[in-house]
Amino acid sequence: MEQMMRSVLLSMAKNRTANRMAQRYGLRFGANRFVAGETLESAIDTVRNLNRQGLKVTLDHLGEFVSDASEANKLADDCIDTVRAIHRANADATLSVKMTQLGMDIGLDVCMANMRRILGEANQYGISVNIDMEDFPRCQQTLDIFDTLRQEYSNVSTVIQAYLYRSLEDVLRLGQQGAAIRIVKGAYKEPEEVAYPEKQDVDANYVKLMEAQLLSNGYTMIATHDEKIIDHAKTFVAAHNIPADKFEFQMLYGIRTNLQEQLVKEGYQVRVYVPYGTDWYGYFMRRLAERPANVGFVLRGVLH
Ligand code: FDA
Repeated sequence: MEQMMRSVLLSMAKNRTANRMAQRYGLRFGANRFVAGETLESAIDTVRNLNRQGLKVTLDHLGEFVSDASEANKLADDCIDTVRAIHRANADATLSVKMTQLGMDIGLDVCMANMRRILGEANQYGISVNIDMEDFPRCQQTLDIFDTLRQEYSNVSTVIQAYLYRSLEDVLRLGQQGAAIRIVKGAYKEPEEVAYPEKQDVDANYVKLMEAQLLSNGYTMIATHDEKIIDHAKTFVAAHNIPADKFEFQMLYGIRTNLQEQLVKEGYQVRVYVPYGTDWYGYFMRRLAERPANVGFVLRGVLH
């Protein structure tokens, strides 16, 4: 039942009509639990609050699966505004972007030009930019973009998803080259030809990828709310004398906030992924799919 619900929610996440409707009606249905408002000002307020609690941030100006070049260029301008606002606020924050937000589905040239504009601006202020990983059909091209940009900029990182069979090979190759990698379980609907269908296999692969990256020359971003994996990471870094500045924990805004604070108290670096903007629908549906019990609180909000 839960599996079916998850599958329905993930299919709905890509529904363009529902997305347009959601944008028209504003941040509703409890989405503000996961999204820090629709404006840059509200996002920067959230960053300041989190920084005050000792939490670092990565800001995501929401947008994905764009099919129009002028929209992709406009979203890149918004990302540059975000970088400038982080700098002006003297905030402890990086930027996260999606390649389909910046035009990958329109043409590689559009996406690369937008990425170079963003990375150039961010580089001036010492701000890092992370390339989020989207669905499997876009994985190889996203990694190719990362490989190219990494030759030109040192402030770029990307994401590897534990549900994909290919990921250990990717982590070993990138880690050897000293790349900074965020490891996640994976949030899209993928067929079993490319991804582990069983959660226990995804969890086991996550641990393998995390250990490989922690032992590599690269920086490791351990992005999960899974306490078992977090405890395993703590034991592993202690046993292998991995310095505190070689890794960080990452969690999503609005999820397991007590755990975020507890890790800060224990002295670990913790970064919160903070999305903002009007294009919140797809992001919100993926958060519901991760935990179908969340649908209950949406329904309570609607009926209230
Ligand atoms: P798991 O799903 O096993 O959850 C562990 C526990 O966390 C649950 O028992 C519950 O308590 C809590 N939890 C998890 N999700 C919740 C939710 N939505 N609501 C309430 N509680 C929840 N994916 C991707 O494909 N590409 C990407 O670029 C990114 N980027 C990214 C950045 C960061 C900082 C994070 C933390 C995650 C991502 N993800 C992602 C999402 C990731 O792939 C995954 O879907 C979620 O992190 C949920 O998986 P967990 O690792 O938390 O484990």
